[in-house]
Amino acid sequence: MSKVAAPPRSPRSEQLYREAIEVMPGGSSRATIFYAPYPLYAASAQGCRVTDVDGVERIDFVNNMSSLIHGHNHPVVNAAVKAQLDRLTAVAMPTESEIALAQELCQRLASVDRVVFTNSGTEAVMMAIRAARAYSGRSAVAKAEGAYHGAYDFAEVSVNSSPETWGRAEAPSAVSATEGIPGYVNEDVIVIPYNDLEATEALIEANRDRLACIVIDPVVSRAGLIRGRPEYLARLRELCDAYGIVLIFDEVLSFRLGYNGAQGQSGIRPDLTALGKIIGGGFPVGAVAGSAKVMSVFDVRMPHVKIHHGGTYNANPITMTAGLKTLELLPPAAYARLDALGCRTKTVLTEALAEAKLHGFVRADGSLLSIFFGGQDSDRFRELPRSDRQTAMQRYLHSALLDEGIISTPFSAFILSTAMTEADIDSLGEAAARCFGALKRQFG
Ligand SMILES: Cc1ncc(COP(=O)(O)O)c(C=O)c1O
Repeated sequence: MSKVAAPPRSPRSEQLYREAIEVMPGGSSRATIFYAPYPLYAASAQGCRVTDVDGVERIDFVNNMSSLIHGHNHPVVNAAVKAQLDRLTAVAMPTESEIALAQELCQRLASVDRVVFTNSGTEAVMMAIRAARAYSGRSAVAKAEGAYHGAYDFAEVSVNSSPETWGRAEAPSAVSATEGIPGYVNEDVIVIPYNDLEATEALIEANRDRLACIVIDPVVSRAGLIRGRPEYLARLRELCDAYGIVLIFDEVLSFRLGYNGAQGQSGIRPDLTALGKIIGGGFPVGAVAGSAKVMSVFDVRMPHVKIHHGGTYNANPITMTAGLKTLELLPPAAYARLDALGCRTKTVLTEALAEAKLHGFVRADGSLLSIFFGGQDSDRFRELPRSDRQTAMQRYLHSALLDEGIISTPFSAFILSTAMTEADIDSLGEAAARCFGALKRQFG
């Protein structure tokens, strides 16, 4: 029997994909949203529902890879953007809107006195690393194995590490995640095993004179929603203070987990924070935020400004307006509601797994969830399941859920929005129960 779920039928998407492959390599401009044989094309969306080009409506559990915390077309955000569209879209002058969003971020994050905006999370991480290098006068970067920080050369290392190349657990090898990155990059990247305090400490000690920064997610999403153990993050802070290393938190994704970000929940204050996704209210965005001292490398008043941070679309007023409105709609109570929806999602998925007698588990943190098949739960990257069988099961689930009216990712991630209700979560639970039954029959 075939172990590939039949792709959801969408004649119009299939036709569009045929046109796309004539003008884009593989028909795609965004590898993370492609799946075989062709992705469904979206036509419109409202709240937590997306309608494809054949008129089929589904509940969106991806939310543009987490950037849409209020779902699609929130009326308040849209009204503010439409008003801004009629006033001013882009101009080679600063606008009030960037001050307002920067003020909101400074108010929410205790570690932040100053902010500069970029146009993506990738750029935010890249500029944060550059700031750390300019500030410290050193060049090496430490990052966690299995963590994704966007497409910058020095960050796209050891993201999808696998046993064939990952080397020793206490000193993971630096492995480029993609071709096209010069080999010398890996010489300047120290890969640390997340949540392994002893091994991480030894690697930092050994490289303390050449490390400009440690880039770390307080919650590593790509590796399986792994939260940094309190003693691990606290020790990183101490080591950075002791050796003059800049501690960078990547909160591009995890900022959605709490009113003060994941850093507020951890109680650890980084020197710099990379932000993105929800702070743009659905529009392209990124930001580097941090202490006045480290952020002074961007200070344009200096006779010899250390970092010349240009960018035609930095702090563009459409993004700034959408981002501010989005955050204004997120008081602490909104996070509490999202957390409750996250708990309910974990419960319905876990129950559905048990009902189907399928060996698997759900990892969840606030409004983010992931399903794993086989293996054991762990807060260490190498200990979580990563078999080909799991990959095949996750792809099967993705396809089967699309047929059931649910959009998830091909790697079984589920991302919630404030537009969802308990009934939407229960619909996912019922759909998942049917899909898990099919998975059990296919994969045993
Ligand atoms: C933790 C993290 N950092 C950085 C990025 C890169 O952000 P962007 O896709 O906006 O470049 C992402 C994107 O998913 C992310 O999850």
